[in-house]
Amino acid sequence: MDTLQNMKQEIVERSLQAFHEGLFSGTSGNMSCFLREEGKMLITPTSVRYDVMKAEDIVVMKLDGTILEGYLKPSSEWRMHAAIYEARNDVNAVFHTHSPYATAFAVNHQMIPAVLIEALVFLGGDIRCAEYATPGTKEVGLNAVPALDGRMGCTLANHGVLAVGKDLQQAYLNAEYIEDVAKIYSVARSVGAPISLEKL
Ligand code: 13P
Repeated sequence: MDTLQNMKQEIVERSLQAFHEGLFSGTSGNMSCFLREEGKMLITPTSVRYDVMKAEDIVVMKLDGTILEGYLKPSSEWRMHAAIYEARNDVNAVFHTHSPYATAFAVNHQMIPAVLIEALVFLGGDIRCAEYATPGTKEVGLNAVPALDGRMGCTLANHGVLAVGKDLQQAYLNAEYIEDVAKIYSVARSVGAPISLEKL
């Protein structure tokens, strides 16, 4: 199998895993990777159920929107993915989830403090909330760039979660840690006053 086919298959498998783990909901959420040297972004199609998505459904496109391969429409958030790849040379995979604990903070426009070591080691610190922009616009990505400064993840106001990585495996892990930190912080707040590691 060639690289492109392997990457498509990996996106399908990780998307299904994300759906089963509750990181995705319905058909929402999306995942991409970027073959930087070839200028090719591979991204999940819009509005396709993850339990029926196949490798041939993955869209191959350029960052300017030109479709190179695929018969389905790309994720409605492809502009956000492209904006991140343009701004961050160290990022080759982008994962947008609707994981519930982290998204709950996003609808409150609240940052999630670094209460666990994973937040510092994997994510780079606290999880900031990017300013709101209309879903589907490039502004979603442009607003995420400052929130992602020095970070591998952030939340998107009234929208969801953005995790990035050097590859799909790392972006996936970062999305899991964002939800884990958000969940533990949320439970900790319900029983006391959690303390950020950055204050210790
Ligand atoms: P699609 O990738 O199916 O367009 O999902 C949209 C979405 O997740 C908006 O938050």
